[in-house]
Amino acid sequence: MMREINASIPFDKRMWQQDLRGSKAHVAMLGRQGIVGADDAATISAGLDQVAEEFAANGVPEDLALEDIHMLSESRLAATIGPVAGRLHTARSRNDQVATDFRLWVRDAIDQADAALGALQDALLARAEQHADSVMPGFTHLQVAQPVTLGHHLMAYFEMFARDRSRLKDARARMNLCPLGSAALAGTGFNLDREATAHALGFDGPTRNSLDSVSDRDFALDYLTAAAQCSLHLSRLAEEFVIWASQPFGFVALSDQWSTGSSIMPQKRNPDAAELVRGHSGRISGALVSLMMTMKGLPLAYSKDMQDDKPPVFEAHDLLGLSIAAMTGMVESATFRLERMRAAAEAGFSTATDLADWLVREGGIPFREAHHITGRAVAKAEADGIRLDQLPIAALQEIDARIDERVYGVLSVDASVNSRTSFGGTAPSRVRAAIAAARKGREEE
Ligand code: ARG
Repeated sequence: MMREINASIPFDKRMWQQDLRGSKAHVAMLGRQGIVGADDAATISAGLDQVAEEFAANGVPEDLALEDIHMLSESRLAATIGPVAGRLHTARSRNDQVATDFRLWVRDAIDQADAALGALQDALLARAEQHADSVMPGFTHLQVAQPVTLGHHLMAYFEMFARDRSRLKDARARMNLCPLGSAALAGTGFNLDREATAHALGFDGPTRNSLDSVSDRDFALDYLTAAAQCSLHLSRLAEEFVIWASQPFGFVALSDQWSTGSSIMPQKRNPDAAELVRGHSGRISGALVSLMMTMKGLPLAYSKDMQDDKPPVFEAHDLLGLSIAAMTGMVESATFRLERMRAAAEAGFSTATDLADWLVREGGIPFREAHHITGRAVAKAEADGIRLDQLPIAALQEIDARIDERVYGVLSVDASVNSRTSFGGTAPSRVRAAIAAARKGREEE
């Protein structure tokens, strides 16, 4: 069982491209520095290309005896070009090799997540633009609070994903240094050009401390932190769709593409994809905790525990990619049931704050008292089974004589949203401006 517990090839074979790329940069540098003869370096480099072709065509063989992708690539290289392959690993250890491969892999994962989130933002922008003045209830405590627009609500998620992308960008900038050349832990006596390998691999430069280089997995944790936080946002959006798609709400009809039928109840259309996005966020957060627990007690430098860094990162990447794609599809294809949203906003006395604000503004009444008067108006409307704007003026004046006809100008849900013109507010004019600014930002990226 030693072979089974020791081997990482079943999962780290996913890094084969990064591994070969790192090796090519390494051997090119060894050749230029005269550490390996120019001819040998050229042979090795061409051999690595052949191995890449082989892996691309046939996949990576899962040979547990070869332990990991690094040993496996080298053994395929030896099978291809013979004993000269043995010169590749000069001035290198699997410790700096894996640290480099994994950074390259995580960097790609960051770029993919960033692009996918950009597409999700575009989907949100398009739907927000369509619905910049579609009224829906805004909630606190999941109780109808004040009317907002659907465009404003969707743009809230645009902001969350903008922050997620900024976190990914931070993580990318911080991780973009190359550990290759740190060797096993102490550096090497060979005259390496670490700047050259770093730049060949798209890094900003080499890492500064060899011990730290081979034992640092902060870059993976930074990625997982950003991924976990992003998954929380995806989960919240997914939860909105689950709630909105429920019959009592009926705010949205999910497309067939992003929902499933029930095998027994023909009337049902279940939001499975949204539920899975919600579920996956738990697993992505679990991946972060998993790697934190792996790292927390490790002395310098490399310990084999660190081989356990990859499964959680790979899993988080896969689940995040699926979740972003699913939410993008749902946002793009959902049918919003605007009449239901409007009716819910109107049914919930959502303009009560507008009445209180009007009393303050027009009647000079202190807000606390205005709040109390409004409470009585809501109670009266509720008792009569009507909306606030359907209360006759006589009924309102019976509650407080200072109320006059002008109050009807603020009691409708449209008047309410139109009045929320403060920066960042839900007034359609503001929402349109926010969308325009966001679009400009996307174009300038
Ligand atoms: N498969 C190993 C990992 O993923 C590579 C490094 C092995 N280094 C060693 N000294 N055993 O971490």
